[in-house]
Amino acid sequence: MEKIIVAAKSDNNVIGRNGDVPWHLPADLAFFEHTISDGWLLSGRRSYESAQGDFIFQKGRKTIIITRQKRL
Ligand SMILES: NC(=O)c1ccc[n+]([C@@H]2O[C@H](COP(=O)([O-])OP(=O)(O)OC[C@H]3O[C@@H](n4cnc5c(N)ncnc54)[C@H](OP(=O)(O)O)[C@@H]3O)[C@@H](O)[C@H]2O)c1
Repeated sequence: MEKIIVAAKSDNNVIGRNGDVPWHLPADLAFFEHTISDGWLLSGRRSYESAQGDFIFQKGRKTIIITRQKRL
């Protein structure tokens, strides 16, 4: 099984701010979409609940969300 790590980062290594990604770059999102198109997406619970989560975790995407909570 191939495993791919995708991270969008700024030149000074920022990947998030206040629970969201502090930029909106359609080309980045298109690259992300293309890269994970047929695979499973593994993510932490906070990213799932972030503002961009609605786009990233679209209905129908094969997704695994990790949490220590017994019930979400
Ligand atoms: N630039 C990018 O490529 C990119 C990508 C994704 C996210 N982000 C940004 O990153 C930020 C979110 O990152 P984050 O680190 O705060 O949150 P996160 O990694 O999305 O989620 C953290 C949560 O995951 C669960 N978790 C983590 N390790 C676990 C383990 N070993 N076992 C079970 N559950 C575990 C816990 O959920 P519970 O609290 O429910 O137990 C933890 O609170 C946001 O700003 C988001 O926009 C950026």
